[in-house]
Amino acid sequence: MRKYIAKWTRPLGVAAICLPFVVAVAAADNASPIYGVSLPDGYRDWRVITVAHEAGKNNDIRAILGNDIAVKAFREGTRPFPDGSVIARLAYVYKSSPENDAVFPAPQSFVAGDPTNVQISVKDSKKYADTGGWGYGQFENGIANQSEPLLKSCFACHTKLDRSKDFVFSHYSP
Ligand code: HEC
Repeated sequence: MRKYIAKWTRPLGVAAICLPFVVAVAAADNASPIYGVSLPDGYRDWRVITVAHEAGKNNDIRAILGNDIAVKAFREGTRPFPDGSVIARLAYVYKSSPENDAVFPAPQSFVAGDPTNVQISVKDSKKYADTGGWGYGQFENGIANQSEPLLKSCFACHTKLDRSKDFVFSHYSP
């Protein structure tokens, strides 16, 4: 009987040993091309730097969050951002809310709809020396977008800011 159980439980042991490696490899694969940026752990719990709304084709509403290093630099106005700064930009469909409007005399409420994408900027002045010290990634439903032209567009646009801004558009909203 014991032998029988051992035979059945052995694959479980093997799975327990292998699974963390499989998960680690899968996580490593879920990174942006060119930069190898992946979604940072716990980014959804980071503090708010500011919010923004883009009309036009994007028609989204976005929250810009930062890890502790980035938030400190934003608050103190430190430029360039120190290595280890990570900024996350979470975008959602910008939609009117008939549900909320029901309590107002006229339609006026706009809210976040479905998530569109998450963009990440990571500061590492050595690793990303060719792109002003910033590495970039874009994620849809948690999956890293693998389009190289898309990832090349990030710095191509952010570099239009002068160096004193360290290629970051957002300002801290107190
Ligand atoms: C055509 C210009 C343009 C392109 C391309 C672009 N960005 Fe931005 N990005 C902006 C502007 C403008 C803002 C600030 C306003 C806003 O969020 O709408 C911004 C904000 C951000 C922020 C918040 C921090 C900051 O710099 O203000 C992050 C993070 C970010 N972009 C990452 C990316 C990534 C990653 C890509 C590529 C996948 C990318 N951006 C492509 C113009 C651009």
